[in-house]
Amino acid sequence: MSLDPPYKSADAVVTAVREIPSPYVPPDVLGQLLENMNSQIDQINALLRLDYATIIRIFAVANSVLHGNEEEVVKVNDAITNLGHGEIEKILDDARGEASFPNLPRKLFSLTAFWNHCVTVAVSAETIARFLHEKDTERYFLCGLLHDIGRLLMLTAMPRLYAISMLEGRYKVRSLQSQELRIFGYDHTEVGVEAIRYWNLPSFLEEPIEHHHSPTDSHQQVSLTVVTHLADAMAHALHLGQSGEIMMPKIYSHQIQELGIQPAHLHELAVETVTAVSPLLIRNYSSIDENQVR
Ligand SMILES: [Fe+2]
Ligand SMILES: [Fe+2]
Repeated sequence: MSLDPPYKSADAVVTAVREIPSPYVPPDVLGQLLENMNSQIDQINALLRLDYATIIRIFAVANSVLHGNEEEVVKVNDAITNLGHGEIEKILDDARGEASFPNLPRKLFSLTAFWNHCVTVAVSAETIARFLHEKDTERYFLCGLLHDIGRLLMLTAMPRLYAISMLEGRYKVRSLQSQELRIFGYDHTEVGVEAIRYWNLPSFLEEPIEHHHSPTDSHQQVSLTVVTHLADAMAHALHLGQSGEIMMPKIYSHQIQELGIQPAHLHELAVETVTAVSPLLIRNYSSIDENQVR
């Protein structure tokens, strides 16, 4: 088998993936809530926004040329209202793409564990934003939810080669991000930002996704980027979900403290994150099993 990546650039990976795999099954109550869309919009939002695949589809359709919005749709409630009941139902039907995800060894990568990582980073980012008295905390949630989406696209497009890069990284004790660069020539942050542009997702997502492992390179969306960076580290430290990366990400403490978050605040933020995210996680996998690979 050749170890030559079949896709030579980040944007080639994005265009190669037609379905975004997700293990999320929305609860039955969502159908009833959608019947009364205008009065239940916040409850509908709370269920839909948990799933990265659904959020991507909702924003992609709401911001598509066919939908004719002159301004970029950046809020989940606005996207839901724009699309309406029928279109949301169609998106949910289309979202049942779990079967299309490659069957990788569970100790190497679990789609459910990845989903849990995304939700944990989203909830943690929103918790930190609230602590910082940010007004639009939903933006932080969305950055956290989608920060590693590039990794899922790389895995979906090139499962065998990506699995080998994971295995080699674990054997040689290298970060998965450095393995991505070494084997593919681009990493999940580059694929992620290309995906945001390709799907017409809100542009505020670009910098936090591109620089969540290098927050010193962020200049326009510094707060969103540094909070996403900290929330990712917190999810790793708390062992809630798994991104595929087994190394603790490098932490840029100076940038975090510049935002007004001191080491003494971290315990409180961690407790709030665990309390808020625990009821949302998909439980049918064991993080203890997966940690045995370390
Ligand atoms: Fe990442
Ligand atoms: Fe992550």
